[in-house]
Amino acid sequence: MTILGIETSCDETAAAILRINENDKKIELLSNVIATSLALHAKTGGIIPEVAAREQLKFIIPVIEESFKVLKNPKEEIDAIAVTVGPGLIGSLLVGVETARTFSYIWKKPIIPVNHLFGHIYANFINENSIQFPAIALIVSGGHTDLVLMKNHHEIKWLGGTRDDAAGEAFDKTGRLLNLPYPAGPLIEKLASTATKDIYHFPRPIIGSDDFDFSFSGLKTAVLREVKKIKMPNDNDIKNISFSLQQAIFAVLIKKTFKAVRKYNAKSILLGGGVAANQTLREKFEQEIKNQNIGATLFVPAKNLCTDNAAMIAAAAFFNPDRADWRKISANPELYFD
Ligand code: KG4
Ligand code: ZN
Repeated sequence: MTILGIETSCDETAAAILRINENDKKIELLSNVIATSLALHAKTGGIIPEVAAREQLKFIIPVIEESFKVLKNPKEEIDAIAVTVGPGLIGSLLVGVETARTFSYIWKKPIIPVNHLFGHIYANFINENSIQFPAIALIVSGGHTDLVLMKNHHEIKWLGGTRDDAAGEAFDKTGRLLNLPYPAGPLIEKLASTATKDIYHFPRPIIGSDDFDFSFSGLKTAVLREVKKIKMPNDNDIKNISFSLQQAIFAVLIKKTFKAVRKYNAKSILLGGGVAANQTLREKFEQEIKNQNIGATLFVPAKNLCTDNAAMIAAAAFFNPDRADWRKISANPELYFD
């Protein structure tokens, strides 16, 4: 089976072609095209929804056209169209959903509606068929921080999530306080790699709470307090703040994830979302598996599959039995876990 994936939930316009090998159930990535309006948003220090939607309109057809280049006859070869229906910005989502509906109507092919958050989890299943259940998935992106139990492809249970800011948001808001370009995650990772001491020891919010929730909004206040004390942070201060911020965020992510891994005897740990692109986070997870002597395997998507892309949307669609007529599909910006 061959699937066209379309993702337009925020500021990335993406299309991908994936094929599943029916014998070994391995998902092969044939093309993965992403256009981003990030440079525009960097100028304003954040995403302006109206601007993001207009950029989606500009990119959507050229991006899909580019993704088709790996096929001889897209109309014949593509069996279904997978599209992100939520959560996300309504204007951006509508561009992808209406495009998918148009292809579906003209080609007479079914649509598979995909929850963007499931997409981040399923990025792990691309070129990977050794993931065992039960699995604990941690989604860490700019908009979400969620812990999820996967008993199998059809029994997926939300365990907890952030009560306020997402992990990526904590990176981005700290970046703004330090005058770093948006989104700040990649640069904070780079700056943090040049420091070695957790000088500021920022709070680890609700690290010991009796649930699987997170709270990161207090971190920006803690950082702001230090920045005000320093007045004009120099390069060295910025490196040390970056290091301490990462330490605080990752300590909480690790504590809660491994609590879930132990409770549910997980055989696999799946990371997903933009923050999972962080090398230090991956290394800390590997180290924790060793420290706790846990028999689980860590899976992390390739870096370009951690941030928003359409390959992960098509990957999720292979395991989603929902096939819909174009008339039944609509965007839902508030979509979450059931
Ligand atoms: O998954 P994603 O592309 O978009 C959302 O669905 O939100 O995630 C973007 C987020 C941003 O907050 C960005 O700062 C963060 O992921 N991010 C990182 C890294 N790369 C991206 N955070 C920490 N370290 C990174 N290397
Ligand atoms: Zn995302």
